[in-house]
Amino acid sequence: MQVLVIGSGGREHALCRKLAQSKRVDKIFCAPGNGGISQLAECVDIKANDVISLLKFANDKRIDLTVVGPEVPLVAGIVDTFTQQGHRIFGPDQYIAQLEGSKVFSKKKMAQFGIPTAGFKVFEDAESAKKYIREKRAPLVIKADGLCAGKGVMVALSEEEALSAVDTIMVDKSFGTAGDRIIIEDCLEGEEASVILVTDGRDSVVFASSQDHKRAFDNDKGPNTGGMGAYSPAPVVTEDIEKRVESEIVAPLMKGLAEEKTPYKGVLYLGLMIVKGNPYVLEFNVRFGDPETQAILPRLKTDLVDIIEASIDGRLKDIQMEWDDRACVCVVCASGGYPGGYKKGLPIHGLDEAAEMDDVVVFHAGTKATIHDTQHPDPSTKLRIRPERSRGTTYETSGGRVLGVTGLGEDIKAAIDRTYAAVSKIDFKDIHYRKDIGYRAVRARP
Ligand code: AMP
Ligand code: GLY
Repeated sequence: MQVLVIGSGGREHALCRKLAQSKRVDKIFCAPGNGGISQLAECVDIKANDVISLLKFANDKRIDLTVVGPEVPLVAGIVDTFTQQGHRIFGPDQYIAQLEGSKVFSKKKMAQFGIPTAGFKVFEDAESAKKYIREKRAPLVIKADGLCAGKGVMVALSEEEALSAVDTIMVDKSFGTAGDRIIIEDCLEGEEASVILVTDGRDSVVFASSQDHKRAFDNDKGPNTGGMGAYSPAPVVTEDIEKRVESEIVAPLMKGLAEEKTPYKGVLYLGLMIVKGNPYVLEFNVRFGDPETQAILPRLKTDLVDIIEASIDGRLKDIQMEWDDRACVCVVCASGGYPGGYKKGLPIHGLDEAAEMDDVVVFHAGTKATIHDTQHPDPSTKLRIRPERSRGTTYETSGGRVLGVTGLGEDIKAAIDRTYAAVSKIDFKDIHYRKDIGYRAVRARP
């Protein structure tokens, strides 16, 4: 079959690599893709949020299956548009995508279905929000309603910070109309974890647990980023927690949505806070996590196409997932200065040396490839040999998060050591990466 993957990050590279391993996949297109993805798939110069051009492409190329990486096209209704035209596409429809697209919608559904989450109130004007902050007192969490590329949440430790967060979102309109409404939430203290599952609206298969590292610097210091690394499994998600997540969160959500005749099909990402052994939902995302996916998919033995098709066709109860028991760690190598300003176009060295290590994969995010070797294989042919090798291609940086260096190991410590050994082979000017990815999991070891 011919598959179209939408997106351009490390998550999409991990998805393309996993899909390329399926015996059922003959050819992958990726829109717009990145330097690393171009070794596995034919990259198409269409932006991930250009739904009309994507549809035209899918029609022209007779795409059999479309897999959506990022949230923006889902929230824009790509699944509705593609489905109406008879395409098979993996993901939730526009109504369900509001679970990520609108924090107000999402919190209201959690309250309606009795799903454990932090106490909250919705505000539509800055004055009443500030009055509430003065009464309620910090710490509080201030969240813009709409999509803000992961930047619309502020954990305010003081009243001053909370008031200034309201100004940023509602008065200065730093996130545009995404900040027309805000949520003020009670601040939960505990350990965060992500649980990602695929559902067909009735049955679900839960993926291996994972944890990302959002802050830019070691010891969770510095500004929030798109994610500086991840590991799987996350020891904080014990068997007991996983069972409770299924019964207290997933089951009521699926039942509630099915009763509204809007069953959930696709990926559901639960951002959780485990507070004294109890799981609370911080957020729902309607897609795979980035960089969690880079740490999860290398552990998945089951054919991802089988899982995706079972979700679309409502057959997930027949799917048994198989996992590699080993731990997996992904360390993000970012451009110096990220998440602020950074330089682009810097040559990347050592990619082949890293990728040649056993049980190491280098996922690309912000990279651009230049092909020098005329023997470079046509990406339209099915690639079977170590697609991670660059084969006559050089790469330069083209984004904030550049690479996700990923390694498997017998336990979390071995996975961390292997991954950092691979990271040490890679270099570009001003490279920045955290040195402590996975530290919580190491601490939790028996
Ligand atoms: P969200 O996008 O809603 O997951 O929020 C982004 C980050 O803000 C989370 O990963 C947490 O670190 C933090 N956060 C969000 N909500 C809360 C809360 N109620 N209590 C404490 N931290 C929170
Ligand atoms: N890693 C967090 C996210 O994908 O939203």
